[in-house]
Amino acid sequence: MKKAKITVVGAGFVGATTAQRLAEKSLGDVVLHDIVPDMPKGKALDMMESACLEGFDATVRGTNDPADYQDSDLVVITSGIARKPGMSRDDLLKTNAGIVGGVAENVKKYAPNAIVIVVSNPLDVMTCLVGAKTGFPAHRVMGMAGVLDSARFRCFLAMELGVSHQDVQAMVLGGHGDDMVPLTRYSTVSGICVEDLIPKARLEEIVKRTRNGGAEIVALLKTGSAYYAPSASVVQMVQSIVRDEKRILPCAAWCTGQYGIQDMFVGVPCKLGRSGVEQILELKLTDAERKLLQTSADHVRASMKILGL
Ligand code: NAI
Ligand code: 2OP
Repeated sequence: MKKAKITVVGAGFVGATTAQRLAEKSLGDVVLHDIVPDMPKGKALDMMESACLEGFDATVRGTNDPADYQDSDLVVITSGIARKPGMSRDDLLKTNAGIVGGVAENVKKYAPNAIVIVVSNPLDVMTCLVGAKTGFPAHRVMGMAGVLDSARFRCFLAMELGVSHQDVQAMVLGGHGDDMVPLTRYSTVSGICVEDLIPKARLEEIVKRTRNGGAEIVALLKTGSAYYAPSASVVQMVQSIVRDEKRILPCAAWCTGQYGIQDMFVGVPCKLGRSGVEQILELKLTDAERKLLQTSADHVRASMKILGL
């Protein structure tokens, strides 16, 4: 079977760690692109020098030339600036729109058949921008946020209960912002709803910590934002696509009326397989949950308007 070609745009913290994880899992041959001269080549060479130690056969090649996106099966966009303490994801809007918009044009030109996973923030509106600039069919464009937000929720639940992280499942929908929607009713420990395991007030604190998960890391790092869990989240999505696993993962996907949301990318449960987003699953939500999701989507819509989308 043909090896996938996976291009990672942006060789900063998230991009480089993603490239490393992709190579170590041998999910495909990786091209790592950045505008900083030579830097992606240095990082790629460093990764290749670990191949004999980590035992992977994938190649990692660094480049400053977007023409190297040619024939990519998958493109992961991480280029852009990251948050500093006190900044919201929305503060990144205009700068990252310029960067991500340019990258999207190159993806359209050099990798017209690729599936694209957007990571740059503010995530949902950047995904809308990539969808608009590439004109790719909706199933080939998606954003990574829900996997990360759910992983944080799962982590905090596992720590609270003192149970294996592997037994905790959680679902976070909506935009990747302070009004994301962690769904406690759909979050379980080996099938037991967390609402039956954790008192309501404490569960609300854990939900709040999840919404604040990105800012908590930014406040600790002081110079940038999270990248270990974000890169692991991207890789889970890539793996489901490359291996046609049909995982059900929350992703920013193009909604056409699901959950009452029309013509925009926002976080919803998706089936990810070889074609990209193969299905959006519609959970039964209470009126309160639906309202929270709508508020989150409205926030994304407001940012879209600023960019004229
Ligand atoms: P970083 O600053 O370490 O890396 C960004 C890289 O993009 C830099 O190396 C920069 O030179 C490069 N870049 C800038 N313009 C470029 C262009 N036109 N083409 C190619 N490369 C270009 O930042 P980090 O920590 O890697 O974060 C990247 C982005 O991902 C940020 O916008 C951040 O907010 C976002 N992010 C999103 C997450 C999510 O859940 N969706 C999670 C974590 C980060
Ligand atoms: C995060 O949630 C910064 O969006 C990034 O860590």
